[in-house]
Amino acid sequence: MITRLAIEGYRSIRSLVVDLAPLTVVTGANGSGKSSLYRALRLLADCGDGRIVGSLAELGGLDAVRWAGPERGTRRGQPTEGTVRSGPVSLRLGVATDELGYAIDLGLPVALQSAFDRDPEIKQEHVFAGADPRPAGVLVERRRGLARTRTDAGWVDLAAGLHPWASVLDELAGHQEAAELAGARRMLRGWRLHDALRTDLTAPARQPQVATRASRLDDDGANLAAVLQTAVELGWDRELSRAIEDAFPGSALHLPVVDGRMTVALAQPGMLRPLTAPELSDGTLQYLLLTAAMLSAEKPSLIVLNEPERSLHADLLPALAERIRSAAASTQVIVVTHHPRLAEELGGLRIELEKQSGETVVAGREGPLDQPGWHWPSR
Ligand SMILES: Nc1ncnc2c1ncn2[C@@H]1O[C@H](COP(=O)(O)OP(=O)(O)O)[C@@H](O)[C@H]1O
Ligand SMILES: [Mg+2]
Repeated sequence: MITRLAIEGYRSIRSLVVDLAPLTVVTGANGSGKSSLYRALRLLADCGDGRIVGSLAELGGLDAVRWAGPERGTRRGQPTEGTVRSGPVSLRLGVATDELGYAIDLGLPVALQSAFDRDPEIKQEHVFAGADPRPAGVLVERRRGLARTRTDAGWVDLAAGLHPWASVLDELAGHQEAAELAGARRMLRGWRLHDALRTDLTAPARQPQVATRASRLDDDGANLAAVLQTAVELGWDRELSRAIEDAFPGSALHLPVVDGRMTVALAQPGMLRPLTAPELSDGTLQYLLLTAAMLSAEKPSLIVLNEPERSLHADLLPALAERIRSAAASTQVIVVTHHPRLAEELGGLRIELEKQSGETVVAGREGPLDQPGWHWPSR
């Protein structure tokens, strides 16, 4: 389980540290920074896939996503214009879990002639045990091109000359001396993040799909029917029936297979035939997609949902909350929502974000001392 999340220098987040629970609900007004927190988690997940530098380049590079305000916090109402940056540009992300933690520090490339000037550089990475990457708990350390690991006999070098765009999780996960790297990578790869599952008229979830077992929902929802059928065949049929009954009383889900292709269909009271995937409303499809994400056979270590209430009718919120709560019994879940009713129905640990002088902060915290501790390794 992830116990603590730390983000620094990303969009509206200058410096944020939050503790997480088995079910954490992040709320806040529009523009308070909820999506920034979601996207920071997405970037951390990208670290597990060796994609972090490319993802940031796609977002326009570090300059496009880094915190645009002053380095130090300002008190409310105090002018910030004209403050001059003195430290290096850095975007830092970290998670601590009850087993292994991971932290990464990205910066601007040192001036060199290259066509890839949007690529940030990985300045540091740390794999650690404990609540944050303080020196005593560091197991693997990467500084620029050098990586080393702590052993009973002291520090042992793992590699030199690592490229600034390559993560140690990718380059050295197979290294005999540092099983922690594989562990940290596995942790990050076990996350599932769902944002804006498509429900429009041409959404992949509305198309017939190849009938092959699927243990996790594709990012675009293309294998919806297969994920639900796989869950049924693995014995989750009661949970699925309950999910349908809670949301659409008296209805039954059908997963017909024609010529090796399968679709979702919903038999509803008063209809002479089941409604097929292209006929389902956006809200119904969204609910089925989220249900599939919660019931998928492969249990991720973390599920993160960004505004799952989108296009969902308010009547479906209690049923959605029930699906999320039951998933949270076996998987850690973070829900980012601006819907007070969904937050209320979900319970769990509530983190309310707000903007102060353009900066995302946790509502109710008086100052930096209220923030859980997080010691970033110095550059
Ligand atoms: N680089 C940046 N530096 C500072 N603030 C930013 C930066 N990029 C975006 N923002 C601000 O962050 C907010 C975006 O927050 P977002 O996470 O999308 O909010 P929410 O999801 O809570 O509606 C906007 O108010 C935007 O002006
Ligand atoms: Mg948002």
